[in-house]
Amino acid sequence: MNVLVTGGAGYIGSHTCIELLENGYGVIVIDNLCNSNPKSLERVKALTGKEVKFYEGDVRDEALLRKIFAENEIGCCIHFAGLKAVGESVAQPWRYYDNNLNSTLVLTKVMADVGMKNIIFSSSATVYSGDNEMPLRETSKTGNCTNPYGWTKYMTEQILSGMAHADKEWGIVLLRYFNPIGAHKSGLIGEDPRGIPNNLMPYITQTAIGRREFLSVYGNDYDTPDGTGVRDYIHVVDLAKGHVAAVKYLEKNSGCEVFNLGTGTGYSVLDMVKAFIKVNGVDVPYKIVDRRPGDLATCYADPAKSAEVLGWKAQYGLEDMVRDAWNWQSKNPKGFAE
Ligand code: NAD
Ligand code: UFG
Repeated sequence: MNVLVTGGAGYIGSHTCIELLENGYGVIVIDNLCNSNPKSLERVKALTGKEVKFYEGDVRDEALLRKIFAENEIGCCIHFAGLKAVGESVAQPWRYYDNNLNSTLVLTKVMADVGMKNIIFSSSATVYSGDNEMPLRETSKTGNCTNPYGWTKYMTEQILSGMAHADKEWGIVLLRYFNPIGAHKSGLIGEDPRGIPNNLMPYITQTAIGRREFLSVYGNDYDTPDGTGVRDYIHVVDLAKGHVAAVKYLEKNSGCEVFNLGTGTGYSVLDMVKAFIKVNGVDVPYKIVDRRPGDLATCYADPAKSAEVLGWKAQYGLEDMVRDAWNWQSKNPKGFAE
C-alpha cells in the first residue's frame, strides 16, 4: 500500500518515511520545503535503499493534489504539513490559520472526491486545556488554547471528527504528540530548526556545539521537584513507529479515534540538561531566567490507550534520546546546510 505523507521532508515526517518504508509501504511525499531541506529525503532513500516519490508543492494547491491522486494508488494519508512555531503564530495568526486549516480542508476535499478516506493527523498535547490533572488522557478537557498554533490543532480536530461523524466511510486518527526529540540512530536525519530554536532540545544541542552561548532555563520556581518545567519527551523514532501503528489500525477500522503519543514519564529541564551532559560528555552552559509566558509547570501523557488499541508503546529512554540528539547535531553542526 502507498501512503501519502504531507510534510514528509520535515523532522517527524522524514523519520516516519523510514519506518513506513521499512514496514513495506510505498511512500509519496508532498512538501513545499517552507521549513525543511530536500536532503532529508535523499538521506531517507540512502538509509532504506528505497525510493520516495517527491512532489514539491503546497498542500493547499488543489490541482497538484488531484494530480498526485491521479498518478498514484494511495491507501492512506499522514498529514504532517503545517506551521508549528508557537511564538510565530502569535505574531502571524492569519498565516497560521490559512496554512494549517486550509491545507487540511483542501486535502480532505480532494480525498473525499477520489474516495480515499483514511487520514492520520499530527495533533499536539497543546490541545489539552491547561487546568487538567496529570497524566493527560484522551478524554481530558481540551480547548482554552493560548496561541493561534494551538487553535489550529484544536480546530482541525473538530473539523476531522465532524467529518467522520457525518460520513461513516472516513477513517481518521488524531495523534496528540507530546515532546518529540532525538534523531535516527544513523545521525543522518534530525531536527534542523530555522533561526533560533524555540524548543528545548535543539537549543541544548546548539549550545553544546557552540552555536549558542548558553541555554536560558525558563523559570525554576514551578511546583515541580526541581522547580523547572516538566514534559513528556518522546524519541522521534518511537513517534514515527506510532504512525505505522496508526496506518495498520486504519487498514481495519473506520470512524475517528484520538491517541496520545507520549511515554507517560515526565522529565524536568534540568533533568534533560544533566542527562545530556552525562551521556555525551559535553558541557551545556545555562542560566536560570524568568518563566516563558504561556508555559505550564507539568505536562505528561497517559499512553495506555495507544498501548491497548494500537499496540504501540515507546521503547526508547532518556539516554537514547539525548545521545541520538547529540549524534545528529555533532555530525551535522549546521543541520542540513552543509
Ligand atoms: P517540520 O516543520 O519539520 O515539518 C513540517 C513540514 O511541513 C515541513 O517540511 C514544511 O516544509 C512542510 N509544510 C508546511 N506547510 C506546508 C504546506 N502548506 N504545504 C506543503 N508542505 C508544508 O515540523 P515537525 O516537527 O516535523 O512537525 C510535523 C507536524 O507535527 C506539524 O503539523 C506539527 O505541528 C506537528 N507537531 C509537532 C510537534 C513538535 O514538537 N515537533 C509537536 C506536536 C505536533
Ligand atoms: N525551555 C527552556 N529553555 C528553552 C526552551 C524551553 O527552559 O530555551 C523549557 C520550557 O520552559 C519547557 C520545556 O523546556 O518547560 C519544554 O519546552 P519546549 O519549547 O521544548 O516545548 P513545549 O512543551 O513548550 O511545547 C512543545 C511544542 C508545542 C507543542 C507542545 C506539546 O513546541 O508546539 O510541545 O506537544 F504543542
